Amino acid sequence: MQNNFYITTPIYYPSGEPHMGHAYSSILADVFARFKRIDKHNVYFLTGTDEHGLKIEKSAKENNMKPLDYCNKISKIFNELAIKLNLSNNDFIRTTEQRHHKAVKDLWNKLIKSGDIYLSKYKGWYSISDEAYYNEDEIVKKNNKYFSTFSGSQVEWVEEESFFFKLSSWQDKLLEFYNKNDKFISPISRKNEVINFVKSGLRDLSVSRTSFTWGIKVPENEKHVIYVWLDALTNYISALNYPNIGDKLYKDFWPASLHVIGKDILRFHAIYWPAFLLAANIEPPSKIFSHGWILSGDEKMSKSKGNILKPLEIIDKYGIDELRYYLMKEVSHGSDGNISLKNLESCINSDLANNFGNLCQRVFSFVKNNCNNKVKSSKNLKDADNKLINETNHLVKNLRIMMDNHDLNNYIKSVINISFITNKYINDEEPWKLKKTNIKRMNNVLHIAIEQIAKISVLLNPIIPLATGKVFKILNLKSEIINLQSIESGKILNNEITIGSADILFKKIT
Ligand code: ME8
Ligand code: MG
Repeated sequence: MQNNFYITTPIYYPSGEPHMGHAYSSILADVFARFKRIDKHNVYFLTGTDEHGLKIEKSAKENNMKPLDYCNKISKIFNELAIKLNLSNNDFIRTTEQRHHKAVKDLWNKLIKSGDIYLSKYKGWYSISDEAYYNEDEIVKKNNKYFSTFSGSQVEWVEEESFFFKLSSWQDKLLEFYNKNDKFISPISRKNEVINFVKSGLRDLSVSRTSFTWGIKVPENEKHVIYVWLDALTNYISALNYPNIGDKLYKDFWPASLHVIGKDILRFHAIYWPAFLLAANIEPPSKIFSHGWILSGDEKMSKSKGNILKPLEIIDKYGIDELRYYLMKEVSHGSDGNISLKNLESCINSDLANNFGNLCQRVFSFVKNNCNNKVKSSKNLKDADNKLINETNHLVKNLRIMMDNHDLNNYIKSVINISFITNKYINDEEPWKLKKTNIKRMNNVLHIAIEQIAKISVLLNPIIPLATGKVFKILNLKSEIINLQSIESGKILNNEITIGSADILFKKIT
């Protein structure tokens, strides 16, 4: 049971074309999910689309479509994106599905029953593009329009009958919860941001709207639709068949191990979500990791700024592993990251084509041309061999820590360094000379090099699953071997290896 790991991406607003921020959030969660799988966890990984609310209703109208037809069309695009990104998600939830409606209504009824929801009137600011309420002190006026100082998006004044969630009464209990669950919010800077916000005082939260209809109706008061964030957050449990809490999925995977989100939606996940759950007597998730923004020339990439690198175009031109590798290496540890085509290309060349790709290429073609695809090792190891092998095997422990800290940048650097020193080992040992002088030693050196390639491929598999999958096939590696434990055990290949035919893994960009 200990080994179950439930991880989620944000569910996306299908209100336009998917952009690099969406791709980044998804790939990041996928890398964590795949890493836990090769660390022998039982992983459940969820993504999907967030289809209700004013923002979607407006987009549908702009496209002259009925909201549901519009959602069907755009949700499909996000589903296809998940496939293009090579996500290993176990499910794709849509908030327009019946299973989700059922869960949201149940949660609503629980909050009514516990006395946490009351009817009143909302008067205040609302941002449609963020689907968020903002306080007076978070608003700035420019050219007779009003904007949120938090997100920069435009807000409008709203006055309407609304149900409220008694968020104010959860202030102390939330602070106590953060205090007890030290690791709930990562990185630390975000945790402090949340705690300061809660300490500054929470106001009750409007959780229903009456001025539009596209959403889940409030049970027994159909004039109201449930606030889209209360609706959307519930996806994390509706996908596990909540309210059927006896269901195997729910029992195995709730509370979630990790919600991966961007920093713009931290408040919803770190404050509202645990408050709703505590009020409904449901255990909150274990951890939220809030990543930074993808920037382009120091600005958040966005349609309105016209600085967009489109994920599908990049994948078509450079390949999905190339995009995954670059994004994970460049934008890490909760900070913002600047991306550009120039850096993407130089990263592909230096790390993938010239380093890891070259290692595979030179070893596989040498073995093909000189050894008839067969390599056999004899026990006799030298100091240089042991040094290389130990350095690799011992790294695993640190890599686990780096992943737990969401430090992909250092994870990738450490693994690619192993590839670098393996290339150097081959240069030093010169198997092409050994071919004439010592066939036994040549076989040992090649065997070690191939075993290094296998280990590096396992370690890079969460990041570049396509290319490393090809290596597993070339080496005929069985799936039960593809994990960290077999690296730690010291040896992952048989003494005799036969390799299959190999293609170039990464094309150099010229
Ligand atoms: O927020 N860089 O959906 P969304 C990095 N439906 N990440 C970015 C980004 C950028 N430039 N732009 C967006 C929603 N993102 C809600 C989620 S969850 C119950 C509901 C990230 O489509 C953003 O931080 O607007 C968020 O994590 C994700 O993309 C989805 O954004
Ligand atoms: Mg957004």
